[in-house]
Amino acid sequence: RKIHQDAARVDKGGHKHFMAKEIAEQPTVLAEAIRSYLTPDGKGIALPGDGIDFTTVDRLTMVACGTASYACLTAKYWFEQFARIPVDVDIASEFRYREPPIPARTTALFVSQSGETADTLAALRYCHEKAERIVSVVNVPESSIARESDLALPIHAGVEVGVASTKAFTCQLVVLLLLALKAATDRGEMSADELAAHLAELRSLPGVLNAALERGKDVRKVARKLAEARDVLFLGRGLMFPLALEGALKLKEISYIHAEAYASGELKHGPIALIDKTVPVVVMAPRDALFDKTVSNMQEVMARGGKVLLITDSEGAQDAGEGVWQQIILPSVAPILTPILYALPAQQLAYHTAIAKGTDVDQPRNLAKSVTVE
Ligand code: G6P
Repeated sequence: RKIHQDAARVDKGGHKHFMAKEIAEQPTVLAEAIRSYLTPDGKGIALPGDGIDFTTVDRLTMVACGTASYACLTAKYWFEQFARIPVDVDIASEFRYREPPIPARTTALFVSQSGETADTLAALRYCHEKAERIVSVVNVPESSIARESDLALPIHAGVEVGVASTKAFTCQLVVLLLLALKAATDRGEMSADELAAHLAELRSLPGVLNAALERGKDVRKVARKLAEARDVLFLGRGLMFPLALEGALKLKEISYIHAEAYASGELKHGPIALIDKTVPVVVMAPRDALFDKTVSNMQEVMARGGKVLLITDSEGAQDAGEGVWQQIILPSVAPILTPILYALPAQQLAYHTAIAKGTDVDQPRNLAKSVTVE
């Protein structure tokens, strides 16, 4: 009921759909999320309440459902790389019934837009008295998940109405990235200067997102072609693997096209059998340390007649070689920020494909914004 009341208070702000509005709002809400977690000089991170002292954390267990679980999976790469903390990521419905052991000095971290998802809440309750600390990353500060946490970190996305989560996902990523950077500095894995440099990059991100949104027309053209497919494969490596999962989820949720995502390195272990000219393969690959590996996967796809839709930056587009079917070219950003930027074309691709197919973008069939019963 609460969600419907909130939804009734917001309008589409001149957009055709809430989803379009929420995609467009991202530079603004992200800037607010970033600002709210930085010290006044912009060089440090300030958490609300008592914060978290990451020197006391030996393990992080992250639990969520749907899109929020892909934010967790992205954060695993950040926490492990920067802070050297071992991280488990679990889907709440599996976690709660598996009843996993919770080792000492574990912080349990729950991510939820609504803060009311039944499985995530049950997983949180399982961790009471077991985990050292329960932290949540939520959009609704008065939600059950926020109230039952030792520390609730708001994402400042504002009310999200579209069933397919967009701005909440990127705001979750921002908060999780800031937590990982805080963990890295607490644990002596990152210097204050390195932190300040990362935060300066992060502060410039909203401007980059605006530039990326301006290229929406290119995505629309590509989406018209994608709308003809029955099945679509998404591939990504490293930080782009969770983004591939998110891209596939978005596409199937609102366009009803069957979409699956794999880590690029898994291509040979199954999905390559699907490749033919009717199955577009969306490859998410900024020009980073893993790019050459991904290009060789792309060539394997193209050698079998597969159609590659490459989402990359201009350096990547130059180095991708011949034979790519379609391209979406984004601005270049610091490698740690690519998941937040690449979420945009993933969302826009799903949105414009759904429009081309004529489906109900904001209220896709069979789905609910918040799954409060099992
Ligand atoms: C539903 C929504 C998804 C969302 C998931 C988790 O399936 O359709 O967009 O990612 O629930 O919701 P939460 O509110 O816990 O983030």
